[in-house]
Amino acid sequence: MDIEHIHAGEDPAKIVAALQHDGAVIVEDFLDADLLGRFNAEVDPLMDRTPRGGSAMFSDFFNWFYGPQTRTITGLAGKSRVFATEILTHPIYRAVCDEVLLPSCACYRLNVAQLLDRGPGSPDQLLHRDEAVWPHLPQPHADVQVASVLALVDFTAENGATRVAPGSHQWDRERAAEPSDIVAAEMPAGSAVIYLGSTIHGGGANTTTHTTRQGMHVSYCLGWLHTEENQYLATPIDVVRTLPRESQALLGYAIHDALSVGGGYLGAVELQDPVELLASGEL
Ligand SMILES: [Fe+2]
Repeated sequence: MDIEHIHAGEDPAKIVAALQHDGAVIVEDFLDADLLGRFNAEVDPLMDRTPRGGSAMFSDFFNWFYGPQTRTITGLAGKSRVFATEILTHPIYRAVCDEVLLPSCACYRLNVAQLLDRGPGSPDQLLHRDEAVWPHLPQPHADVQVASVLALVDFTAENGATRVAPGSHQWDRERAAEPSDIVAAEMPAGSAVIYLGSTIHGGGANTTTHTTRQGMHVSYCLGWLHTEENQYLATPIDVVRTLPRESQALLGYAIHDALSVGGGYLGAVELQDPVELLASGEL
């Protein structure tokens, strides 16, 4: 099984169909050259000031999981205007999340947005499912997460392109991925590999001597799940106030209104919708 490559200009329904069939899909030109250039220009100086290794993690496990040669910038919505206004709300993310997540929630939200620069010498990352952050979910369950890795440089098998086990979203949970199940998501800069939270994957080893593999991990989850990154605290409120309403909603400020399906509200402040309080200047 391979990972289908689909150009960003194609009908999003084709992207969704490939994602649901294979558990992963590569979207080429997800960021066009102009957007990729502006984003890299914004975040490269931040990355230049970021040390390699597990300086930021609270657990030795996660330091190991990310790897000693990795530089990480978390909470991108608060640090990159380009991300918060143009990538977070990307029409392809919206189209995919609408199809995959909206059947199980009233609205979805950003789960995590991080830059990951995997330097030369990085080992293979542990193969995993991103939805493992919610281990209490019953099995089987509907899709709860749409995840992605965007290539900010060309991704090759040598520099550590994300390794994916296509079809693994439908495997028995006890089945482990064998080397023959794994495909490297090789793709040019600006492309994205989009995968389900249930798809087995991991960062590849960077066997080059001088090439860093800079990518961005972005994922969305059901609006009623607790997020991996705390977006309310990761994004300063002074920044949130300047963002478009759509971005504010995706950061979790929109109330989760399930009244129409017999549920109730989540995330109210003073019995109000926080995104409305932002609009009126009361928040
Ligand atoms: Fe992952």
